[in-house]
Amino acid sequence: MAETNHVLADSFFLSDKSVKIFVAGHRGLVGSAIVRKLKALGFTNLVLRTHAELDLTRQSDVESFFAAEKPKFVILAAAKVGGIHANNTYPANFIGLNLQIQTNVVDSSYRHNVKKLLFLGSSCIYPKFSPQPIPESALLTGPLEPTNEWYAVAKIAGIKMCQAYRIQYNWDAISGMPTNLYGPNDNFHPENSHVLPALMRRFHEAKMAAAKEVVVWGTGSPLREFMHVDDLADAVVFLMESYSDLEHLNVGSGKEVSIKELAELVKEVVGFEGELVWDSSKPDGTPRKLMDSSKLLGLGWRPKISLKDGLVNTYKWYLENVVKQ
Ligand SMILES: NC(=O)c1ccc[n+]([C@@H]2O[C@H](COP(=O)([O-])OP(=O)(O)OC[C@H]3O[C@@H](n4cnc5c(N)ncnc54)[C@H](OP(=O)(O)O)[C@@H]3O)[C@@H](O)[C@H]2O)c1
Repeated sequence: MAETNHVLADSFFLSDKSVKIFVAGHRGLVGSAIVRKLKALGFTNLVLRTHAELDLTRQSDVESFFAAEKPKFVILAAAKVGGIHANNTYPANFIGLNLQIQTNVVDSSYRHNVKKLLFLGSSCIYPKFSPQPIPESALLTGPLEPTNEWYAVAKIAGIKMCQAYRIQYNWDAISGMPTNLYGPNDNFHPENSHVLPALMRRFHEAKMAAAKEVVVWGTGSPLREFMHVDDLADAVVFLMESYSDLEHLNVGSGKEVSIKELAELVKEVVGFEGELVWDSSKPDGTPRKLMDSSKLLGLGWRPKISLKDGLVNTYKWYLENVVKQ
């Protein structure tokens, strides 16, 4: 592999709004929020490719793309993502496609003199029995949650690849691990969506059907952390501008909410007037899952969108984009 002479730097991302930025995965929940944020900040030279236009698992296509476009910055938000069922059914896809996407994008970025790359993963990289809140140092300290280990192993390899390229080539690759995200372009599929969009859809459909009640599994006691994807996009810009170090950083709000509080808030935002019933004979899931984002918060970044405001924004998007289809 050819050596290039990259120099670590920071505080340069926001200085030139005409610089070419490749946002990989720009039609996804995360990628689309990053594009909205960059456009709002005045960036004019975003290079974007749909999956159909550029399959990031194809090494030679990715190489040709970077040779032709030569972006200066890369934000890697393309990934094969899915829930427990999909991970169990398609383990080869979850490990294989993600390793291919990130290996191709990271290596081509380095070879074609990208100045800085940000790799995104998620909290599933941490061991099943991590301390709560989960600090960055919990990485690789114990066995993973078996239901998503294929995806998690690929994401851990992505973090390690960024670190290895930084060490060997002095190249500015960083990693951010966001907490549970929600917002416009989320997946509202009836069978394989995350808890927040799933609740929103169920309350909406119950409201439309004038149902008397909505039954939700468990007691509602588990504690979780949610962040609006526009806050994540804001954090991504902050990291591109201000963070340049070996360690991956957790990106969360640090605010916990019980599933019960969340469900009640979603019910209120949707305007469902029936009853919310908890089926405590069904399993609750892990009692607490929260990221320790004190390192990022210590650098001065803060989330800005309250859960209530974020839910209002997301329900509006759902009505305009999912219900109307
Ligand atoms: N959603 C969350 O709550 C959450 C939380 C923490 C971290 N993250 C991280 O954020 C990243 C993005 O997640 P997301 O929720 O935005 O996922 P998403 O909505 O499914 O978006 C992923 C995007 O990647 C594209 N993509 C997948 N395979 C590709 C390929 N081979 N070539 C080109 N494009 C490809 C997809 O295009 P197609 O749909 O056309 O395939 C899609 O636009 C992931 O790394 C994930 O771990 C997400």
